[in-house]
Amino acid sequence: EKVILAYSGGLDTSVAVKWINETYNMDVVTFTCDLGQGRELDAIKEKAIKTGAVDAIIEDARNLFVDNFVWPSLMAGTMYEGKYPLATALGRPLIAWRMVEAAKEHGATAVAHGCTGKGNDQVRFDVSVQTLAPHLKVIAPVREWKWTRTEELEYARKHGIEVDATKQSIYSVDQNLWGRSVEAGILENPWIAPPADAYKWTTDPLTAPDEPVEVVIEFDQGRPTHIDGEPMDAVPLIEKLNEIGGANGVGRIDHVENRLVGIKSREIYEAPAAVILHHAHKELEFLTLSRQAQRFNTYVSQTCADIIYDGLWFSAFHKSLMAYVSETQKFVSGHVRVQLYKGKITATGMKSEYSLYSEELATYEEGDKFPHETAIGFIKIHGLSQQTQARQQLLKEEP
Ligand code: ARG
Ligand code: SIN
Repeated sequence: EKVILAYSGGLDTSVAVKWINETYNMDVVTFTCDLGQGRELDAIKEKAIKTGAVDAIIEDARNLFVDNFVWPSLMAGTMYEGKYPLATALGRPLIAWRMVEAAKEHGATAVAHGCTGKGNDQVRFDVSVQTLAPHLKVIAPVREWKWTRTEELEYARKHGIEVDATKQSIYSVDQNLWGRSVEAGILENPWIAPPADAYKWTTDPLTAPDEPVEVVIEFDQGRPTHIDGEPMDAVPLIEKLNEIGGANGVGRIDHVENRLVGIKSREIYEAPAAVILHHAHKELEFLTLSRQAQRFNTYVSQTCADIIYDGLWFSAFHKSLMAYVSETQKFVSGHVRVQLYKGKITATGMKSEYSLYSEELATYEEGDKFPHETAIGFIKIHGLSQQTQARQQLLKEEP
């Protein structure tokens, strides 16, 4: 029997290959999804085979990731608890989906992942697999073996699994195009400021360049398409903004977040492109959406963020919400100019052919078209019920 194991090439998933062989007596096919995490994919494949996998699949899923997960989430304005742009949470349902496909192709009866038993990721994997392919068994070695770090290293040594201590991060890190998530180690004490080595993508804002950088981002129906007038494909566009943002210290997030499993955990994020694009996109919505739609969307954004964080990407409710979001983006097209400076992002201009901003109506200068004479009647009706209430109730109260 065969199992498809989500494989990063790190210690946990390498040990998992052997452990599944021994514990379940199954053939392991490793599956590594390229979501732009920037790791050596050839080396990962080699290591998988060397560790005992019968086959090692590498799939470039970067475009699938951006088109089907990142852009919809950007359009919905999802920031978990107002802070975290959900890079890891968006990657999980995609990886689960691709693994289910791989399982079909290779005739596997199970899928496996290296998540712990106290995090969000196990929920996202398991729920997605249960939804897409309920017949597949899910094996979670790290959750099942319940070892300490020392016991795990002992097992690795005994089975000749190469442990490169110099490459062992003191943090737990997950990364993809949309961001880098860092936790554990010294970060577990929320009073301690993140040490410099927790950050890899972003310059310390204090030592960032003294000159601000300006970037113009063009959106078409909610999706970014151009940077500084140059048309760009989604993946390089995000890479470029990660680079410019990171160089200017933009995109650092320090979050004590509420996990689905009932604990708070402290995580550091680096997500320059996500922070820039969410900021710019929101500014464009200020220009192109009605007041009502904007108010309603704050609720939709928060709800969508919770759905994504909680691993319910493939739910019917999420699908319905995304249909609504997609409809709202019809006129979210135009340009936003942002300034990046020492960790800060500021929008300095925006324009759209669908702009609801009317200079004729807004101006205090020559050419004002606002219907001033109707304001007095409007105000009378607008305040009418409050006036009645005051006369009948409030003004009768003792002061
Ligand atoms: N807390 C984030 C989430 O639940 C990231 C989880 C993975 N982080 C990590 N450092 N391994 O989406
Ligand atoms: C894990 O526990 O596997 C990583 C953290 C998380 O899933 O929240």
